[in-house]
Amino acid sequence: MKKTINTYREAKANGEKVTMITAYDYSTAKLEEEAGVDSILVGDSLGNVMLGYEDTISVTMEDMIHHCKAVKRGAPNTLVVCDMPFMSYQTSVYDAVVNAGRLMKEGRANAVKLEGGKEVCPVIKAITDAQIPVCAHIGLTPQAINAFGGYKVQGKSLDAAKKLIEDALAVQEAGAFAVVLECVPAPLATLITEKLDIVTIGIGAGNGTDGQVLVYADMLAMFSDYKPKFVKHFANVGEEMKKGFKGYIDEVKASSYPAEEHEYKLDDEITEELKKLYK
Ligand code: KIV
Repeated sequence: MKKTINTYREAKANGEKVTMITAYDYSTAKLEEEAGVDSILVGDSLGNVMLGYEDTISVTMEDMIHHCKAVKRGAPNTLVVCDMPFMSYQTSVYDAVVNAGRLMKEGRANAVKLEGGKEVCPVIKAITDAQIPVCAHIGLTPQAINAFGGYKVQGKSLDAAKKLIEDALAVQEAGAFAVVLECVPAPLATLITEKLDIVTIGIGAGNGTDGQVLVYADMLAMFSDYKPKFVKHFANVGEEMKKGFKGYIDEVKASSYPAEEHEYKLDDEITEELKKLYK
């Protein structure tokens, strides 16, 4: 059965948790769909974990479209949400609608995600009016890293918490079908979840949200530059990959790979004839 934004609505109505994992390529998306994830986020965390940038600022529309296409090919039956990269929606409502449209038409996304609260509500409204589902993202919004002055937990003071609640209500009112809450104290995320009719997806926001999202390279211990407090390693794929690479290097150096079972055969007569000819 195809997973859509209705899967989200039904899950919230039935009190069931929603799952989201990032992916940036065909094979990973295929494995995630086979595992049964509800939705895949082609996150602009692509910049950090796939492209090696120190933040998400340099990620382009072309990067997002390129990776989103591959993900959708790998996960045709999963809700694929594509991040709108930095400066693809902040310049004007017009730019935002055009760029959201490109992620749908060229990237084959099923929905887009963008960062911000009240200030981006006109953009959320215009994109949803164009029949493109929008997932909002509040709390720690990595595209605002330079304005925040670092990656910090958000909503810790009474005023900051009140602002986050107002932002959550505003993005819902503007038409978002879901909202990501990143690095928000658990009691605040739970309160927001109880107040909203739309799905909340937490990352570093405790267990009281409607769903969870993690960057796949974090949860599989493939990305080792840093490990936020909320990340759990569900498998040690990074170590397994290193073991595999090392095994290959050792066997090639020792001439034990490729073995006979990996070879293509040639008729003995032809081999002998060739040897005679090219002695
Ligand atoms: O880009 C991303 O992967 C994200 C998640 C951290 C929510 O926005």
